Amino acid sequence: MLKIKEFNKIIVANWKLNGSNDFLEAYFEKLALKDIDSDICGIICPPITYFQNCYSKLNSLYLGAQDCSKFKDGAYTGEISASMLRENNCIFCIVGHSERRQVFKENNEDIKIKAAQLLDEKIVPIICIGETLEQKKMHKTHEVLKEQVINSLPPNSSKESVVIAYEPIWAIGTGITPTLEEINNIHKYLKKDIKEIEEYKLLYGGSVNPKNASDIMSLENVDGVLVGGSSLKADQFSEILKA
Ligand code: PGA
Repeated sequence: MLKIKEFNKIIVANWKLNGSNDFLEAYFEKLALKDIDSDICGIICPPITYFQNCYSKLNSLYLGAQDCSKFKDGAYTGEISASMLRENNCIFCIVGHSERRQVFKENNEDIKIKAAQLLDEKIVPIICIGETLEQKKMHKTHEVLKEQVINSLPPNSSKESVVIAYEPIWAIGTGITPTLEEINNIHKYLKKDIKEIEEYKLLYGGSVNPKNASDIMSLENVDGVLVGGSSLKADQFSEILKA
């Protein structure tokens, strides 16, 4: 398993349901991978059909998936298992993204099973948590995050093997982010007050772009970022990797 503790920052590109063969060629031609510090862990999560093509172009970056099946094998049409991901050079896998939770009705239990399967295959799960705007307005953020994280963590989880990503749902794809102080305080709460994830690597996600990435990543309790929209533009993601 990759030693995640050795990295200073972890920066994830979540391409979601985007890409094509042409897109991929143009993207990697433009992506500037030269001056990235060796203690930065850069990860590209494309749709699985582009895994092999991406893998051949990654250089020092790592390959990640956006989801995996909670089943190991069998009659589950359309599913892709953790062991299949491992056989295809997958090192990280996002689980419990808010789009999976909301659109595909995944719950904490599903996410916990997926994360356990990934750990069995020596793939690092990136477990996403985040509150809705309504929950934030009702001052329920801490409560919601604690409930999600504790119930999504698999029993074989450790700070060496699992990454957590805090992604406020209202900040995803909206261009709106919490203030730097809010991000740092929520990360501090997660890292210091929830014993189960004490000292885990903790990423921030939601409208990260080249303009705000450096400030967000310089916060004491932020170990990296999970990037959606801006990760689809090679020049913007290159800037974030160097932020
Ligand atoms: P965004 O997406 O950067 O486009 O807000 C982040 C995410 O969904 O992981």
